[in-house]
Formats: sequence, structure tokens, C-alpha cells
Amino acid sequence: MKVIMEDIISLSKRRGFVFQTSEIYGGLAGFYDYGPLGVELVNNLKSAWWDAMVKEKTNIYGIDGAIIQNPLLWKASGHIDGFSDPMVEDVVTHKRYRADHLAGIDSNDLVELERLLKNVKSPDGNKLSQPRYFNMMMQTWIGPVTDDAAKAYLRPETAGAIYTNFLNVKESMRAKLPFGIAQIGKAFRNEISPRDFIFRVRELEQMEMQYFIDPKIEEDVYEEWRQFAWNFLIDKVGIQKDNLSWHEHEENERAHYAKAAHDIYFNFPQGPKELWGTHDRTDFDLSNHTRVSGKDLSYIDEVSKTKFIPYVIESSVGVGRLLLAVLCDSYTKETVNNDERIVLKIKPSLAPYKVAVSPLLKNKPELVELAEKIFKDLKARFGMVMWDDNGNIGKRYRRQDEIGTPFCVTIDFNSLEDDSVTIRDRDTTLQQRINSSKLISYIEEKLAI
Ligand code: GLY
Repeated sequence: MKVIMEDIISLSKRRGFVFQTSEIYGGLAGFYDYGPLGVELVNNLKSAWWDAMVKEKTNIYGIDGAIIQNPLLWKASGHIDGFSDPMVEDVVTHKRYRADHLAGIDSNDLVELERLLKNVKSPDGNKLSQPRYFNMMMQTWIGPVTDDAAKAYLRPETAGAIYTNFLNVKESMRAKLPFGIAQIGKAFRNEISPRDFIFRVRELEQMEMQYFIDPKIEEDVYEEWRQFAWNFLIDKVGIQKDNLSWHEHEENERAHYAKAAHDIYFNFPQGPKELWGTHDRTDFDLSNHTRVSGKDLSYIDEVSKTKFIPYVIESSVGVGRLLLAVLCDSYTKETVNNDERIVLKIKPSLAPYKVAVSPLLKNKPELVELAEKIFKDLKARFGMVMWDDNGNIGKRYRRQDEIGTPFCVTIDFNSLEDDSVTIRDRDTTLQQRINSSKLISYIEEKLAI
């Protein structure tokens, strides 16, 4: 089924996944807020990543660095000089556009872009300026004076604080190579043309891990982390394999720090686009931080006694893009018993609400009382449990299907006799009766898959 972005945007707003930032003031291009369901899905995705990356491994350590770092960090990392996208300007309206987007290629080669855009007009039909680079670092000023000495940057990637904490983590955790440092946090990019809903934004959240290695094992480790990303998306996020593909960066696409880069592309509504990057950053970062800070960030191998600057293999994925991929991948319009429904077939463990509880009729106190007790027990165990006694049962099921709730529990008159309840499965729509005392273990079992 081809998913269209308008359906995803509409569902996101209608059901509380994603809202426009400052909507009552007309929004702000490139910024979004997560609603009650969005924040649950975000938290579930972040936990799944943190579990797989930090908790299930023995040599990956988490940190949470500051968003604003010493600006020298970004000088050393090459971002102040090189974190740029090619831009063209409409000479009449002065609106700015990504030159590579208008040219329809993945390249930041200015000569090639100029050639391709020679006879191209802006979306408003006007002449375009020559392409030039635009630095995407978001600036701010620290303290009361807004001069150059006070200038600082909101981080463009979380990786920076990982490199500057390489020695701190190595020493405090007595870590030996190979080891990794993982971090989840916000990053900021002054995108020339934010677009495609939450795909290209100016404030994003990244989940990044930098794996420090002896350069001798560079190629094997690069392959391992590519495989990790692929398996995580399929096994832990439940994304359909057919929606994923590999894209190896050509030289003119790679970030300034990368010797090699492979993206996993997801079939977004606007086409296959990057979701998860694995980059071979070599010793680019630690060498530059050694040079600029004057602190020796090399490593001495205990066995061979050799001294070297570790190489870094980076694994990097955006939380918002992952959430968008999950919504697009799971969004299904189908007809069941002559009735059309929208259902989010999200992996149950990631669903914002795990279960909804309903008394068959809301004006029968004995049904409501038993349903409330069951609701309370489930809520104590699963947290995200929804009470829904509005409208007929069919409508309640449709409401839950649309937000991906894997189970609906209904308490009816039989429940009063024998303590049994109906549990209905989101994907199959099948209902079965089980004893209410078995509900928790039944749901736990399904969520563990
Ligand atoms: N650290 C990789 C990226 O920001 O894309």
C-alpha cells in the first residue's frame, strides 16, 4: 500500500502524535512538538535503542552531554568551516533553496550544481543565483554581550561531546578498546529548506554511538555496525524489510569527517531517503581534538605497547525520522467485514497505549465497577492503558486501531458471572474470552515478541 504524507500528517495531528510548534502563532518552519501519543512512541523508540546499545552490551557506555559546548570543539571538528549545504537564491523573492534538491541530485559539488541549474527557475518562476555554500550551525551568544567573543553554537550533532569525553569515559570506566560511547539528545541545523513534515527539521533528536577501535579492525567493525542497524530496524522496531535499502555515499555526498558512509534508506512517502547512517570517521575527530586542545587523545595498547589515535565507527539515527518511518511503515487502510479501517500495525512493545479497557455499557454500574477494577490492575502493570466507554464497541475498536493499541478488553454481562473478559487483537480483529486473572500474563507474553 502506498502511504501518502498528508494521511500521516493528518493522523499525527488528529490523534496527538505530532503538532506544529507554536501552532496558534502560525507555526515555525522546521520545528515540531510531540503530542501525548508521539512522546510515548518517541520514548519507546529511545528505550529500545538504549537497551540494545548500552544495556545489552558490555563495552558501550552512555553519556548525556551539554547542547552548548566550547566553540573550539566545532572549530576542531570542522563544522564551523565545513558543515554547509549548497544554496541558491531566487533573485526576485530572495527565498533560498537547497541547490541539490532543485537539481534533483545527491551532491554538493558546486560546479556540477551550477551546470545542472543553468536553465532552472525557482519554484516562483524567477532566475536563480549561483550556488554557494551556507553554514548550518545555529548560533547563540553566552552572557550579556552579543559580540564575537561570546558567540557559541547549538550542537549540530551529538557526537562532539562524545569525543571530548573520550578520556573521561576511558578513565572513569577503565575501558579498553574496542569500546563505544552512546548518547541520545537534541541537535540543531539551520536547514535552508526544512520539508517533508518531520523528515528535514531544524531541531532534531539523535541517537548516536561512536565506537573507538584499533585501526586494524576498521573494515570488520564497520560491517558489524551496518548489520546492527539493519537488524535493529527489523527485529526491534518491526519495520518491513521491503521498505529498507542500502545506499552507499559517493565521495561528493559524504560528510567532511567520513571516509566511508552507508545509509539505510526507508521508503518514505516522498521516496527512499536516509534513515540510519553508519560512518567510518577514521581518526579525523580524535586527531583534530588532540591538535586543537593540546590534550593527547591517543591510546596505548596494553599487549603490543603500540600507541595510536583510535579510529571511530559511528552509528547515527534521528529519533523523529525513525518515528516517521514507523508511522509510514505501520499505517494501513484495509477493509474488514465490509468496514474500512485505518490501523497502525506498530510492534506491540512500541505502541503508545498497550491496552484499552471498556465496559460494554457505560450506564450499567456493575459492569463499570468490574471494568474499573480491571483497568486499575492493568494500569498498575502496563502504565499506558486507556479507558474508553464512548460510543459503540465497533467505534471504540476503530479508535484504538488508528493509534496502534494492540489489545482491547471488554467487560460484559458474562464477565459478572464467570470473571471472563473479551480480548480483541488489533491485527487479526479476532476476539477471545479469557479469565480476567490471565490478562496480565497474556498481554505480557504478546508484548515480549
Ligand atoms: N553524526 C552524524 C550526523 O549528525 O549525521
